[in-house]
Order: sequence, then C-alpha cells, then structure tokens
Amino acid sequence: MNLLLAPLIVSLISSLLASLIVIVDSIVNNYGEVNININNGKKILKVKGGSPLLFTLASQGIFVPSACGGKGSCGACKVKVLTDVGEYLPTELPFMSKDEIKENIRLACQIKVKKDLNIVLPEKLFNVKKYKGKVISLKNITHDIKEVKIQLSDKIYFKAGQYIQVVIPPYGKIKQSTQRAYSIASPPSKNTEIELLVRLVPDGIATTYIHTILNVGDELEIIGPFGDFYLRDTNAEMICVAGGSGVAPIKSILIDMFEKGITDRNVWYFFGAQSEKDLFYLELFRNFEMKWKNFRFIPVLSKPQEPDKWDGEVGLVTEVMARYLETIIDKSLPKEGYLCGSPGMINACESLMRKFGIDKVYYDKFA
Ligand SMILES: Cc1cc2nc3c(=O)[nH]c(=O)nc-3n(C[C@H](O)[C@H](O)[C@H](O)COP(=O)(O)OP(=O)(O)OC[C@H]3O[C@@H](n4cnc5c(N)ncnc54)[C@H](O)[C@@H]3O)c2cc1C
Ligand code: FES
Repeated sequence: MNLLLAPLIVSLISSLLASLIVIVDSIVNNYGEVNININNGKKILKVKGGSPLLFTLASQGIFVPSACGGKGSCGACKVKVLTDVGEYLPTELPFMSKDEIKENIRLACQIKVKKDLNIVLPEKLFNVKKYKGKVISLKNITHDIKEVKIQLSDKIYFKAGQYIQVVIPPYGKIKQSTQRAYSIASPPSKNTEIELLVRLVPDGIATTYIHTILNVGDELEIIGPFGDFYLRDTNAEMICVAGGSGVAPIKSILIDMFEKGITDRNVWYFFGAQSEKDLFYLELFRNFEMKWKNFRFIPVLSKPQEPDKWDGEVGLVTEVMARYLETIIDKSLPKEGYLCGSPGMINACESLMRKFGIDKVYYDKFA
C-alpha cells in the first residue's frame, strides 16, 4: 500500500513545490524586455520576460504545436534552443531522446523566457494562424463520437491529414483556457469550413466541453494547421488502419485523393471497431469502393453484438491485417502505412507492418 502511495505523494509534493517556485519567481523577479531571435535573425521579437516560451511566442502570433495546452504532458511543443537555459526539467525528460538532448531540444511550455534567447523553428510554423470559427453543426455519429462543423472567418490552407488545435475557453471548474489537437476530417477543398470528429473521453476537459456544453452558433477559436501526417506523393500501395476518431484524417485524405482523381493507387482501408455501434460513414467508404477500382474497405469488429448478422471480418484489426498481408495483398508491390488512433493500436500495427517489410509508416498518435 505504502509502495503504491509513495510515488503519488512524491509527485504531489513536486507539483506543489513547482507551483510555489513559479509564484515566488513571479513576485521576486522582473525580467523586463528581452529579445527572442528566431532562425538566426529571420525574426526578432521584443517581448516581456517571465512567461513560458510557448505562451510568449503565441502572444506574438507564432504558434508552436501544443496538444495539451501547455501542461507538459503531450511533448508536442519541442523547440531547438541555442541559448543555455539551464538543466532539463523532470517534466521534459520523458519526451526527449538522447539525440534531442544533444541538440538542445526543449519543451517550449516548460522553459521560461528570462533572458535573450536564440531559437530555431521550422519555417512552416510561420504560416500557422489563429482563426475565429462558428459552430454550424453538431451531430452524434456514434454513442461517443461527435461530428463538429465549424465555419471559419478566413480561408485555411492545409494538407489532408493535418490537425488543428481547438481553444477551449474556461467553463465550470476549469478556470483556464486550454487547447487540444483535433485532426481535420474534411478535405482541403473546403477551406472556409472544417469538420472534426471528437470522441468523448470520460472527465476530459476538451471533450466534455465539446460534447456537453458547445452549441450550434457558438464561437470557437482554432489554431493551425499542424502536423506531418499527410499523403506522400508516391505510387506505393496504401495500407490504412483507423477506427473511432482516428477516421478523421484518413477520411480527409481519401476524399482529397478522390477529388483530385488520384484513384490509380491501391488502397486497403482497415476500419477497426469493437462492435456495430462503433461503425460509421460506412456508406461513404462503400461508395468509394464502388467508384474507385483499387479501393478496398475492410471493417473489422473485435466483438460483434450480433455475430450471426455480421458478415464482415471478426477479430483484432492487427490479426485481420496480418492475414491480408500474408495471403491476399500482393507482396511484390511497394507499400506505405497510414495509421491513426490510440498509441497502443499504432504501436501494434507499426511493428506488424515492419515485419512485413513496410518501412514507410506514417501516423498520428491521439495521445
Ligand atoms: C495530433 C493529434 C491529433 C488528434 N486528433 C484527434 C481527433 O481527431 N479526434 C479526437 O477525438 N481526439 C484527437 N486527439 C486527442 C485530443 O487531442 C485529446 O487528447 C483528447 O480529445 C482528450 O482531450 P480532453 O481534454 O477531453 O482530455 P484531458 O483533459 O486531456 O484528459 C485525458 C485523460 O486524462 C485524464 N486526466 C486529466 N487530467 C488528469 C489529472 N490531473 N490526473 C489524472 N488523470 C487526468 C482524464 O480523465 C482523461 O481520461 C488528437 C491528439 C493528437 C496529439
Ligand atoms: S504543450 Fe504539451 S508538452 Fe508542451
């Protein structure tokens, strides 16, 4: 019992100490105006010191990815810092590889701007903007997934598969605004209206807000686009695996390919779900199958509720994919993997794909 409680108590004491340090630091220290030099002088920002780098950059219209809203729990806000800003914090280390530590990659939400800084940012981040949006449709498409359509004040230019961050305002007991990442489910051709698929996470801050508080007509800010999950311009056969809210970026990619007439590529789409109640958009994907000669749609249920009526595949999506790769899909063609969903599903699919010699595997882990 004591062994179980000890890490909890240590973590409580560390977070209390961390909060105390922040409060004392803000009272005692006044860092005044400091310069942030980005990409060797490409941009120089004059800012007030004292806040985390992530929020300081955002206040200047530069948005670094952040899937947890700056809590230090997603690892998305990595930035190369050329200036010495001190030891790594315990909150940063779990997200850093040895190579990243050698290169001085830091979590922008965890390091504070206290003096002049030199940093390196990918150029594409300069195109990321904040958009005002209005919710124009909210639809429950399964028992736990809501389809959210947002009309934007400005056009957004993105690649199919990329994601945006939704700004969640304070509500109820949540006293601070926060942000969460959601993949765009609509294609880039719709650039003033985007669609998201949001799965309700019990007690989750953003998903509780979106599922239970947000209404049609409400305003909602988004920031984006972000991410490296998009279609690679090759002829390789595509092996896609996604179920639940992971369908969002795959749907965007497939509609985009269809609209652009990229229908000569072979696509195998494995839609993993637990039971019939977790399936959706079947008509859309079946329709692709009819119109797109090389598109195969394979819904897989791990626990069908009505096994007698279900005539599709049964089992874990990994097992079914392995069987197809072993016995049905032509082994001689080059292949790429496109995966989206929970880290567990992605890790299992990725290692399986590698066993089958698929070494180009692209994914977004919804962690
Ligand atoms: C690139 C990317 C794309 C994504 N795309 C999508 C998408 O298209 N659709 C989608 O639905 N999701 C997507 N996600 C996931 C999404 O960003 C959120 O992580 C998810 O919706 C949960 O957010 P939340 O605020 O509701 O939960 P959070 O409040 O972040 O909570 C997550 C879990 O942690 C628990 N928790 C929270 N705080 C504490 C605490 N203090 N102590 C202990 N436990 C706690 C909660 O109970 C909950 O179970 C994506 C993530 C990434 C990184
Ligand atoms: S924003 Fe999530 S770790 Fe920094």
